[in-house]
Amino acid sequence: MRQSLRVSRLNGDAAHTLTCMNRLCEMFGIEFPIFAFTHCRDVAAAVSRAGGMGVLGALAFSPEQLELELKWIDEHVDGKPYGVDVVIPVKSADREMGLSDEKSLAETLRGMITDEHWEFVHKILADHGVPDEPDGSGGGAGNGSPLDQGVLGWTELTGAPLIDIALAHPIKLLASALGPPPPEAIERAHAQDVKVAALIGRKEQALRDVQTGVDIIIAQGYEAGGHTGEVASMVLIPDVVDAVSPTPVLAAGGIGSGRQMAAAMALGADGVWTGSVWLTVAESDMSPPIMEKLLSATATDTVRSRSMTGKPARQLRTAWTEAWESPESPGTLPMPLQFILWSYATRRITAAGNRELLGMPVGQIVSRMNKVRTAKEVVYEMVEEYIEVTERMNKALADA
Ligand SMILES: Cc1cc2nc3c(=O)[nH]c(=O)nc-3n(C[C@H](O)[C@H](O)[C@H](O)COP(=O)(O)O)c2cc1C
Repeated sequence: MRQSLRVSRLNGDAAHTLTCMNRLCEMFGIEFPIFAFTHCRDVAAAVSRAGGMGVLGALAFSPEQLELELKWIDEHVDGKPYGVDVVIPVKSADREMGLSDEKSLAETLRGMITDEHWEFVHKILADHGVPDEPDGSGGGAGNGSPLDQGVLGWTELTGAPLIDIALAHPIKLLASALGPPPPEAIERAHAQDVKVAALIGRKEQALRDVQTGVDIIIAQGYEAGGHTGEVASMVLIPDVVDAVSPTPVLAAGGIGSGRQMAAAMALGADGVWTGSVWLTVAESDMSPPIMEKLLSATATDTVRSRSMTGKPARQLRTAWTEAWESPESPGTLPMPLQFILWSYATRRITAAGNRELLGMPVGQIVSRMNKVRTAKEVVYEMVEEYIEVTERMNKALADA
């Protein structure tokens, strides 16, 4: 990896001049190879303005909402590059059933959830004092669009329109998790000079995705927040770098400081893809109870559990995650069915302000997320520490 650093440290935030160039910085026209996954447009725009690359997670938005979010980013990013992330599961219940009618999608999926599962959800809520819904609607999770009913953009049917919206904006990166974007979307992205990245948790997935035309592999280790595989970053990253070379690799999972960034680069990554660390920045839209929980949690307060989406996802350990591990649990359902249960329960848990059940995807790095900083401070402190540690290691070598 070619890399040159120009550092001039002066007092005061605005006076920092840090430039860190490598091939990913050149590819995107960014100052630092720090990629920030976030569901919050303010955070995405702030990271891009600070010299990194903000990437907005589109999963939870309807196409109409996503359009508004991206329009806002276009107006607030000062012309800096940014990206969009979608979730395209290779395996999910709707794909396996061949469901292709958007109108009946939510209804059909909800019909696949057993009474036993709904009863278990109601028992968890009752056991923790979450009051019944005023209309007594039981297992109802809204009657609107698939999105309202907890299906989100992670069926092929609900995810595809999000890609259309994303590609109608001046994005520079289209990323996807749980599988590469469809070949047609990759072609369209490339025709618009948009790079395509895919998150993977195993070397084999990286090799598969490179074959489909993905430009950048995001190798995400077990420590990470959200859906994770079983291989730790320390082992996964060099394996993937070697397997897909010369394709650039972003390291993800457990990265929130300059020392961790330096470690990722030492493992052969071209940059870092971060998620958890942005949840507690000043620009974040986290609710106060979640923010409080995140700021006080340690690495062992997270657990990799299927109880949110049906696929293993690292999140805060809560009474909800524990209940699904208990002997009374009927077992979690496959994606996207489990998420329908989770989003129904979360609506009620949030309304009741129940702290024991309230959860959030977050990685083990949560142990270092102890104070609120601005996104710019996070970027700058990461780069400064990265430079310090690189200089320290160079000096150790020179002194040897
Ligand atoms: C709250 C949260 C939600 C996430 N949702 C998604 C998602 O929708 N799509 C995606 O590609 N990755 C998602 N991720 C994973 C991140 O993209 C990233 O790979 C991960 O956070 C990196 O590890 P870290 O949490 O240790 O920084 C999510 C992560 C978190 C913390």
